[in-house]
Amino acid sequence: MYPEVANTEFKTTAFIRKLVEKQGLRVLPIKMKTGILAELKGNKPGPTIAMRADIDALPITEETNLPFKSKNVGCMHACGHDVHTATGLGVVHVLASMREKLQGTVRFIFQPAEECPPGGARPMIANGALKDVATIFGLHVDPSVPVGQIGLRDGAALAAAIDFDLIVTGVSGHAARPHLCVDALVTGAEIIHSLQTIVSREVDPISPVAITIGQFQAGTARNVIAQTAHIIGTARTLSPEIAKRLPVLIERTASSICAARGAKLEMNLIADYPPMINDAAVNRCFAKGFERLYGNREIITTPQSLGGEDFACYLEKVPGAMMRVGVGNKKIGADKPWHHPAFMVDERALTVGTATLATVICDALGVLSDQ
Ligand code: NI
Repeated sequence: MYPEVANTEFKTTAFIRKLVEKQGLRVLPIKMKTGILAELKGNKPGPTIAMRADIDALPITEETNLPFKSKNVGCMHACGHDVHTATGLGVVHVLASMREKLQGTVRFIFQPAEECPPGGARPMIANGALKDVATIFGLHVDPSVPVGQIGLRDGAALAAAIDFDLIVTGVSGHAARPHLCVDALVTGAEIIHSLQTIVSREVDPISPVAITIGQFQAGTARNVIAQTAHIIGTARTLSPEIAKRLPVLIERTASSICAARGAKLEMNLIADYPPMINDAAVNRCFAKGFERLYGNREIITTPQSLGGEDFACYLEKVPGAMMRVGVGNKKIGADKPWHHPAFMVDERALTVGTATLATVICDALGVLSDQ
């Protein structure tokens, strides 16, 4: 009921801290304003396994009629991160009750700011979230998957997200005397147009790439030639190699056009999430755990998408995977896409997510091997 947007998850952090401390977990010190890193040490030695849940909400006004609808007007858990947090706390609860059996350590990463690049994953990693971690498990709700089921995808599941700002600076002047000016608006328009040629001519058409300019601001008046133009965009690809090339190609294209028109270019990289590449062996752990709980209930193969997710930053460092937890149920209105003001979930997904994650972590820490 009290969602908080990226980097302001203060009450959420305090709430999580209280619950994990109550379960006897050790909260590790981090130099971050929000987020919790907590550790559950089993009574026997063994590997360290991490689980990540993101905790932030979105600046959206909630339009559901749920009894637990957001009380922070203009802020909503429209991406289901409240479900991820609740699932994480559920797993804490389950595993804390059996710590004498655990052969190893569970590190819980309650991560802030997933929705707001550069994101909370890298600061968490810098604060030791992955220290000695053998495997990391993640989850995300999925309204396109029916409740009771899960989705998995080996390899690249989500895209690299390269958020960039281009600032074109020209020379302002009277609308009637363009020859005495450098028009930042016209130059900006040329850049926007040409960026699409990167997609069609510079990268292998077998690899999907999207370059989207979401904002273009230039000019101040009808009869004044624009001094500056701000071009705000994002580029997406599933390929780590293309992800490395895209900022170079964008810069080359924009700066060449600026040079041709006598304008100056400044390019700022706001974020560069890598593609999210799931480890096939870790996905098999998810599948095995799910099967143990729910028999031969179908596991959906999650389609690839050019969406971004900073869980990818953990997967760059250690093997891991993100499971999609089905929350869809049209009968109760749980069929809206992520970030929709009426987004909601079938809460039975909380049990499925908690049970599956607790099972795969138990398996990784030797609890289930002889049963
Ligand atoms: Ni999300």
